[in-house]
Amino acid sequence: MSRLKNDTFLRALLRQPTEYTPVWLMRQAGRYLPEYCETRRRAGNFLNLCKSPAMACEVTLQPLARYDLDAAILFSDILTVPDAMGLGLYFAEGEGPRFERPLKDEWEIRNLTAPDPHAELQYVMDAVSEIRRALDGSVPLIGFSGSPWTLACYMVEGGSSDDYRKVKSLAYSRPDLMHHILEVTAQAVVKYLNAQIEAGAQAVMVFDSWGGVLSEAAYREFSLRYLEQVVAGLIREREGQRVPSIVFTKGGGLWLESIAAIGCDAVGLDWTMDIGRARALVGDKVALQGNLDPNVLFAPPEAVATETRRVLDAFGNHSGHVFNLGHGISQYTPPDNVSVLVDTVHAYSREIRARG
Ligand code: CP3
Repeated sequence: MSRLKNDTFLRALLRQPTEYTPVWLMRQAGRYLPEYCETRRRAGNFLNLCKSPAMACEVTLQPLARYDLDAAILFSDILTVPDAMGLGLYFAEGEGPRFERPLKDEWEIRNLTAPDPHAELQYVMDAVSEIRRALDGSVPLIGFSGSPWTLACYMVEGGSSDDYRKVKSLAYSRPDLMHHILEVTAQAVVKYLNAQIEAGAQAVMVFDSWGGVLSEAAYREFSLRYLEQVVAGLIREREGQRVPSIVFTKGGGLWLESIAAIGCDAVGLDWTMDIGRARALVGDKVALQGNLDPNVLFAPPEAVATETRRVLDAFGNHSGHVFNLGHGISQYTPPDNVSVLVDTVHAYSREIRARG
């Protein structure tokens, strides 16, 4: 296996010194890029795109051709796992994800099993291998999964939700069934991420997009506990290199210290908390990834640069920062503003280091 030409991202996740702050963006391959929309048109729809390793590889590389990014992320979706569990994922045009067979009855929940990543999900592993080959050691490849709680939200709600009424009703009225779903899903996530690592993913990220809708007590019981289980099950080293893990709970700022204590290498931060304050809370325990508000990218280039510098100043001259947005990039983002962000991160973080 060739050595990486740019391993800044991996070193930052392990809190080692870097010459500048590495940057990548959640949803960096997506609809704000005209070339993505073109490939998606050729694929027919989003799911076909995910299920074709060649096209998934193509769109993974698109943002890297445009911008000086320090990592690639597998092009796929978190909902491939419940799809492989037999729930029947589809995307109704303009309406987001839906399941044909959401979990409703007790027997359906009791029959749930963790899918074999080398059966129903082999297309994801094929995409990982193909992307690794195509990257040819330029930057590391990130694999990912949804968290057990976030996947369970979609599996029980049957799609996106405003109030999480069904999944919270289940959690409070039948905690035994809720824990069964989370237990099976946590096993599925561990197998899925480990298979991605074996196929070539050099870091992994767990998206707990809806952990922040829970109360603190419910977060600990239904999300954090399973995040901890997932992290404990991950392959730690591959090809003689540590495989760092990133845990991102959107809305998890209030519980940052607890998240930092579950054994992950890095914690993703949304934009609500000052990243300097976050660092003061966790110290050198974990690296931090974040946390520019994605809506900053709608402002003029000067404001994008100012707000980017603000995040870098807030973190300060320490190792252990991976620059990112606080959530996925919007489909309406002007692509030129992304260049401003990426180039500002690189140039200004070098300045901060030079100042000492
Ligand atoms: O970051 C990347 O570039 C990798 C690709 C990626 C996608 N989804 C592609 C995608 C990743 C990491 C995800 C994760 C994902 N998917 C999450 C967790 C992150 C988060 O945003 O909180 C969630 C909750 C999902 C579920 C999901 N998939 C939703 C709610 C939607 C619809 C939202 C929308 O923007 O329309 C998707 C579809 C989806 N996943 C798109 C992309 C590029 C848009 C699909 C399209 O091309 O029409």
